[in-house]
This record gives sequence, C-alpha cells and structure tokens, in this order.
Amino acid sequence: MTLLVTGGAGFIGSNFVMFMLRRYPEYRIVNLDKLTYAGNLENLTEIQGNLRHTFLQGDICDAQLVYEILERYHVDAIVNFAAESHVDRSILEAIEFVRTNVEGTGVLLEAAKRHRLKKFLQVSTDEVYGSLGPEGKFVESTPLHPNSPYASSKASADLLALAYHHTFGLPIMITRCSNNYGPYQFPEKLIPLMILNAMTDKPLPVYGDGGNIRDWIHVDDHCAAIDLVLHEGKDGETYNIGGNTELRNIDVVRRILKHLNKPESLIQFVEDRPGHDRRYAMDAGKMDRELGWTPRKPFDEGIVETVEWYRRNEEWWKRIVSGEYQQYYKMMYGERGMTSKE
Ligand code: NAD
Ligand code: TYD
Repeated sequence: MTLLVTGGAGFIGSNFVMFMLRRYPEYRIVNLDKLTYAGNLENLTEIQGNLRHTFLQGDICDAQLVYEILERYHVDAIVNFAAESHVDRSILEAIEFVRTNVEGTGVLLEAAKRHRLKKFLQVSTDEVYGSLGPEGKFVESTPLHPNSPYASSKASADLLALAYHHTFGLPIMITRCSNNYGPYQFPEKLIPLMILNAMTDKPLPVYGDGGNIRDWIHVDDHCAAIDLVLHEGKDGETYNIGGNTELRNIDVVRRILKHLNKPESLIQFVEDRPGHDRRYAMDAGKMDRELGWTPRKPFDEGIVETVEWYRRNEEWWKRIVSGEYQQYYKMMYGERGMTSKE
C-alpha cells in the first residue's frame, strides 16, 4: 500500500506519518507538504533515513504535480491533512484558507478521479458544525454552520468531497475531529502557546472570559481513529472523532500552570476573538458502534506528557519562536486590549 499524506510536516500529519510507518512495516508513504510557516521538517527527524518515507516539498494546488505524484508512486490512497489551520490567522487574512483548504482539496479530488484512486480520506474538524449552547453534542447529521473563515473553508472542502462521491462514485471518507494536543503542535494554538509562555514567565493571554469550551483529544488517539477509518470506514461516510473531554479554556490554562508550578497571576484576560465559538463537543458514538474506536488517553495524563515533551524539546520550539512567529505574535497580542474579566 502506498499512501499520499498531504501536510505531513505539520502537527497532526507528522504524528500520523510516524504512527503509520511504525504500525505497517510494509507501507510506503509519500509526504507532500508546502512547508508553510506551520510545516517543519524537524517534526520528522525520528524517521530520517527511513526508505519507506519520501518527502516532497510542493503545493496541493499544483494539479500537474499532484497528478504526477499519483502516477509515479502508484499511490493507492490519499489522506489530506494539508491546510491552513489557525482560526486567528483566518480572521486576519482569509484568502490563503480558501486557496489551500478549498481549491487545494478540489485539485486533489480531481486528480484522485483521473487516477482512479482506491481511497480518499479528507481530514476535517468539528468546527464545521458551528457553536453549541450549554447542552448537546455534534453528531454526523448536525447541519453545517461554520462561523470562522477557517471553519467555512473546511466545510466547503467537506461538501466538495461528498459531491465527488455522489457524482463520480469516488471512494471518499470524511473524519471530523475535535481539538488536538500533543507533541509537535505549533505554538500558536492554545495548549503549546500557554505551555511555552508559562515556562518562560510570559503572560498567558486568555480570550474573553475564558469560559469557551473545547473537547480535547490527544493526537495519538486521532491518528488511531484515522487509521481505522482508512481501512474499515465506508465510502461516502462521515465520522466524528472526539476526546470526550470538555474543558473551559481557563481550566486548561490553570492545569498547565499547576503542573509547571507557576502562579495564576501570569493569566491575562485579553480582548475576545471576533465571532468566537462558545462550545464544541463531539458525539463519537458512530466510531464506537461501527469501528470499535474510543479515545484512550485521559487528558490528565496526556497534558502532563505534553508539557514534559515541550520541556525536553526546547531546541525544537526555540527555533520556531525565534523566526517569523515573533512578528505574528506581536501583531496578534501586542495590540490586543487587556480585560480583567473571568
Ligand atoms: P498544521 O497547521 O500544523 O499543519 C498543516 C500542514 O499543511 C503544514 O505542514 C503546512 O506546511 C501544510 N500545508 C499548508 N498549505 C499547504 C499546501 N497548499 N500544500 C501542501 N501543504 C500545505 O495543522 P494541523 O493542526 O496538523 O491540522 C492538520 C489537519 O487536521 C488540517 O486539515 C486541520 O483542518 C485538521 N484538524 C486539525 C485539528 C487540530 O486541533 N489541530 C482538529 C481537527 C482537524
Ligand atoms: P485554538 O487552539 O486556536 O483552537 P480553535 O480555535 O481551533 O478551537 O484555541 C482554542 C481555544 O483557546 C479557543 O476557544 C480560543 C482560545 N485561545 C485563547 O484564549 N488564547 C489564545 O492565545 C489562543 C491561541 C486561543
């Protein structure tokens, strides 16, 4: 089996590539990644020299390149992680999200159709469903109601993928997962940002009142779920993946501070994100009933391991935070009004 993994130098993609090479000693993986600010070859140092892994720098919007890869490497299946993935950046500048997330997925689907690919797994997100009130959870039939430019670009890609299944019989599957955390996550996202700021005694910027809720899942659980869907999922189906761990942002931040033995006075409430979704929660019952999957890693354990990973891998994140990220951080947080709410 030869898999084309796109976005395999990003957070979840790199974890998935390593997971699959470990798990299937006979599989080959071709990893296509543009190496945007979020892509990092240092995420893949563990598999350096592994002859079953081929890294190619390139853009999923490049139709000719994608088609050539499918032919040259006799690709059986695509797992599409490549995306612009950060909500705050999509609020600052949305066009790249439309290009990579929508057009890029369209290019991959079109190439898959010509090449008669055996499987196409589109990696999507719970954010396509919009925001929940205090009760209830998202199921696969919840209507799509994306609120941010990021979420709407992902919802568009999902719809395009489903249309290719319906119209051309392409063997598409969609997974929609809740918020991931774990090693190699870029420090613009809540958990790694708070870990690094706490470790370096910088203020921890909590948006709004800190009461927004996310359903956290360890990246290894997400990878295991994608593996199962890829091998045992049904064409044309969507699968929700969740961590069964709903937490308020402020409580996540407090746990990180507690583990690092840092004071809560580092918390700084700042101006809210525009259009900030209040609550996400996934019902992943279909994954359990149909494929026998449930998340395994308890958050208490996973968060401690993750904090320790960032402690041990200073070289990895120091190189990131010294570059372009500095500019983004200044733009994002430098001007942001502070508030005193909780
Ligand atoms: P990430 O930003 O860490 O990685 C994205 C990768 O895609 C990077 O390596 C980047 O270089 C690459 N990329 C971007 N544009 C590209 C292009 N045009 N062509 C080729 N490569 C390109 O993102 P992540 O957090 O690992 O998320 C991966 C996927 O999982 C995304 O599709 C995201 O929507 C989805 N997802 C993420 C989460 C989460 O909590 N992080 C949850 C659910 C779903
Ligand atoms: P994030 O990691 O950006 O994921 P998403 O927006 O895709 O869920 O943010 C997770 C939550 O944390 C979200 O409610 C926004 C909040 N947040 C902060 O309070 N401060 C921050 O600096 C960041 C990046 C996020």
